[in-house]
Amino acid sequence: MRYLVTGGAGFVGSHVVLALLDAGHEVAVLDNFSTGHRGAVPAGVAIHDVDLMDYQATVDVVAAQPWDGVLHFAALSLVGASMADPFHYLRQNYLTGINLVQACALHGVKKLVFSSTAALFGGPERADPIAETALVQPGSPYGESKFMIERVLHWADSLYGLRSACLRYFNAAGADPLGRAGEDHGPETHLIPLTIDAALGRRPALKLFGTDYPTRDGSCIRDYIHVTDLADAHIRALDQIATRSVVYNLGNGHGYSNLEVIRSVARVSGLQVPWEPAARRLGDPAVLVADSTTLRRETGWQPRLGELDQIVETAFRWREKNPRGYGSN
Ligand SMILES: NC(=O)c1ccc[n+]([C@@H]2O[C@H](COP(=O)([O-])OP(=O)(O)OC[C@H]3O[C@@H](n4cnc5c(N)ncnc54)[C@H](O)[C@@H]3O)[C@@H](O)[C@H]2O)c1
Repeated sequence: MRYLVTGGAGFVGSHVVLALLDAGHEVAVLDNFSTGHRGAVPAGVAIHDVDLMDYQATVDVVAAQPWDGVLHFAALSLVGASMADPFHYLRQNYLTGINLVQACALHGVKKLVFSSTAALFGGPERADPIAETALVQPGSPYGESKFMIERVLHWADSLYGLRSACLRYFNAAGADPLGRAGEDHGPETHLIPLTIDAALGRRPALKLFGTDYPTRDGSCIRDYIHVTDLADAHIRALDQIATRSVVYNLGNGHGYSNLEVIRSVARVSGLQVPWEPAARRLGDPAVLVADSTTLRRETGWQPRLGELDQIVETAFRWREKNPRGYGSN
């Protein structure tokens, strides 16, 4: 099969590209390299250096070949930045998404897998774990922009037969177990790479935001899913959408606390992690864990690298070997 991956030079997209290649598919990447890296795209994969804000350039790529499916990762994805600059986030993620979906609907693409997010569930009455049936109430313009694209996909299915899978995931983490790819965000905001860099002495002491939450150790609990497990779910989702569209929560199902992450990094690396307590951040809920029952039942997916130490170990190995991320390759 031949797949087009938007955002394939980014963290999650590059791991999905590897999974598609490993499964024997042909892959091309569409990316504007705003946050992604050329070094993250494996040799031999065609690169379309295109900004999805440019509708005609997007159509040119989508219409050029008969794609068996499109996987859409390209987006701005920092919740805090979306609160600071909401219109920029809403415009970018909505216009890029609608450009891509329209190009696919009008040019014969039949399957699209979309990176949605658990940030859709921002309501105060949210239960833990978050069920697939939970009320959608985005807590940020970022979450809202993802929901807007889910709605665009609903109409693309109803009126054009473009089947889609919206995968609502939370914290992607870890790195390719074979060391071929890893996480290199700039700026980095994710806890596991930040903790590893603190252990390696590449940044000052980690700030632990909130130590008085009503959790088992007072720190926040989050659902970390290994990026390779995430990639596997995308491939299974492609099989599921031959005849109908689906929306799945996608998470490990186990919550790990911030302090457990710190202890795991210390255990895996054999290093001390310098950290200091800091005040809670506005809007950070105590616990966020996904219930992925429907995905598991319908696709047979289950995490294979679900233990925190497995996630941390692959991330640690990649960051240790690539001190400047893709800049060092
Ligand atoms: N990383 C996570 O934990 C997480 C969690 C939930 C959802 N998501 C979603 O998964 C997707 C991938 O996340 P990531 O962490 O890999 O992000 P990333 O920033 O590493 O990757 C995004 C990629 O999209 C490209 N891109 C951005 N805007 C573009 C545009 N206008 N045109 C073409 N390319 C563009 C970037 O250059 C980059 O390669 C995003 O849609 C994000 O919202 C990520």
